[in-house]
Amino acid sequence: MTVCDDAAHAFAESFGGEPDGVWCAPGRVNIIGEHVDYAGGLCLPIALPQITAAAVRRRTDGRIRMVSAGFDRVEIDPGSLLGSTRVAGWAAYVVGVVYALDPPGCEGLDIAIASNVPVGAGLSSSAALEAAVALASAELFGLPTDDVGRDRLARACVVAENDYAGAPTGGMDQQIALRGRAGHALLLDCADDTVEHVPFDPEAQGMTILVVDTRTAHRLVDGQYGDRRRAVDDAARMLGSALRDAPSVDGLEDPVLRRRARHVVTEIGRVRAAADALRAGRVQDLGPVLDASHRSLRDDFEVSCIELDTAVDAARRAGALGARMVGGGFGGSAIVLCELTRVAAIAAAVTAAAARHGFPAPGFLRAAPAGAAHRCR
Ligand code: GLA
Repeated sequence: MTVCDDAAHAFAESFGGEPDGVWCAPGRVNIIGEHVDYAGGLCLPIALPQITAAAVRRRTDGRIRMVSAGFDRVEIDPGSLLGSTRVAGWAAYVVGVVYALDPPGCEGLDIAIASNVPVGAGLSSSAALEAAVALASAELFGLPTDDVGRDRLARACVVAENDYAGAPTGGMDQQIALRGRAGHALLLDCADDTVEHVPFDPEAQGMTILVVDTRTAHRLVDGQYGDRRRAVDDAARMLGSALRDAPSVDGLEDPVLRRRARHVVTEIGRVRAAADALRAGRVQDLGPVLDASHRSLRDDFEVSCIELDTAVDAARRAGALGARMVGGGFGGSAIVLCELTRVAAIAAAVTAAAARHGFPAPGFLRAAPAGAAHRCR
């Protein structure tokens, strides 16, 4: 059974009958450009083959009923949520999207969710959920779903994430979930949401992006992510310009703020270098750029952790071309660029290093760039 079948099955079991349709959206992994989206920077994510599916049917009584295979069932009564942001857990992402979009003619929904995006691994399970619900709502109620429409849907998903789920994230995850393209990385300019689809097929060149899920807690609603975001905002205010346009960060007196700003500026430079390498078909040139990104995230931005550093170091020692932590940090996943012939040896070395430190056994998946949210049934 596919994930889309699972969602349809959960729908029939919970609500009876057939959904109006099933829509799905991918998780993501970011190749480079970490903690720069909310600073109006550049990033280069890919969509994953792992997806979240939403089976959806219209209602006419104002009620929203949600069920998720593996989670609980939640019902929202007519009017109880309008203007309110108090919804707990995964339902906040769903309801948040519906309220942020406010699709014309929507008078309630039944929604069943299924997913194979690992939760809490920093692979954007929440954005996948938001994007699937957003596209379903758009197609059911006639909102545009061309590229401009998808940009608007992604922005509504960010409102859901920020205002309803309470995670102060940027927009990278939602943009890739709705606008990614199979076989390509998405060069996203977060200043205006313009995109370039850059061909990226490492396996065709005998290499792969191996995702290492450290299986250590990754939470974006705690204080650290918001703290970094505030530091970046403060630095830009003090310098009087967006960090990507600042000629130098040396004018910042506070050493911590200076390091935070330096990460953003140097990371944006690394995204440009990575995009150039991919445009030239030189995937292996990503390696040193990934290594430099990890050092910057670890030392200047201070969002790595011992489990991520251990995985990255072990992968490099076992012959990776480059490796770095990805996503918000403080746990979650790392990516390793390596030759296909090295995958087994690197996975074994990373697993052994985790065991030596008494960390959880990591999970692995190979990330081939997949497509964006779409209707699957
Ligand atoms: C999380 C957020 C994104 C982005 C990354 C860091 O994944 O959801 O918006 O800020 O962290 O690059």
